[in-house]
Amino acid sequence: MEHESVVQWVYASKDNEELANRYNQWSKSYDNDLARDFDWKGHILCADTLTQYVMQNETIIDVGCGTGLCGTEMVNRGYSSIDGFDLSEGMLNEARSLNIYNDLRKGILGETLEYDSNSYDAAVAAGVFSQGHAPASGWDEVVRIIKPNGHFILTIRADSYELLGFKEKHQELIDSKKIELLESSPPMQLLPKGEPDVHHIIRVYKVLK
Ligand SMILES: C[S@@+](CC[C@H](N)C(=O)[O-])C[C@H]1O[C@@H](n2cnc3c(N)ncnc32)[C@H](O)[C@@H]1O
Repeated sequence: MEHESVVQWVYASKDNEELANRYNQWSKSYDNDLARDFDWKGHILCADTLTQYVMQNETIIDVGCGTGLCGTEMVNRGYSSIDGFDLSEGMLNEARSLNIYNDLRKGILGETLEYDSNSYDAAVAAGVFSQGHAPASGWDEVVRIIKPNGHFILTIRADSYELLGFKEKHQELIDSKKIELLESSPPMQLLPKGEPDVHHIIRVYKVLK
């Protein structure tokens, strides 16, 4: 796999099938590539943010869990009730091998998720809402499966915020009183080595409903 272009290669996926295939191919070397070539920080910042809002005994869904980098950071901070989903079976298989998730399954943001409403105290999504990745429409289902007064902690690629409809979805969910914004970071470099010019924001929403 060509390390310089691998992130661009997944960003450029035409549809979910191609995205899943590309992540399947990348899954075995994803952790090493991200650490060595990109210095990915999103999973660490999401887990740090979680500690400010969510108690260790609360239930968490890792949205777009990938190989489990964010799950590992949450476990390291004392969380033990973590489920996850992702569209890539290859990434899920890597996450399964960690034995830190109670339940891992295939799920696609932008489609109906196979979870009951009000299932989780918190949802975390690190590096999932981005160009060529999950759409803003995926927020509706994430909000549905979080309990009232629960939290949704996520990174959003800053240059996608208006362009890909996240600003509009944010406003729609605020106006309909389904969520409340608790925190929004300034744009930050979350891939400082590989993509220093790309910035992400971290958001914390409280779910109202
Ligand atoms: C950059 S990786 C981040 C993985 C993990 N959260 C982390 O911090 O390492 C993005 C993940 O989102 C998943 N993903 C992208 N679009 C998705 C969608 N529409 N539904 C579910 N998962 C998606 C990918 O398969 C991939 O595992």
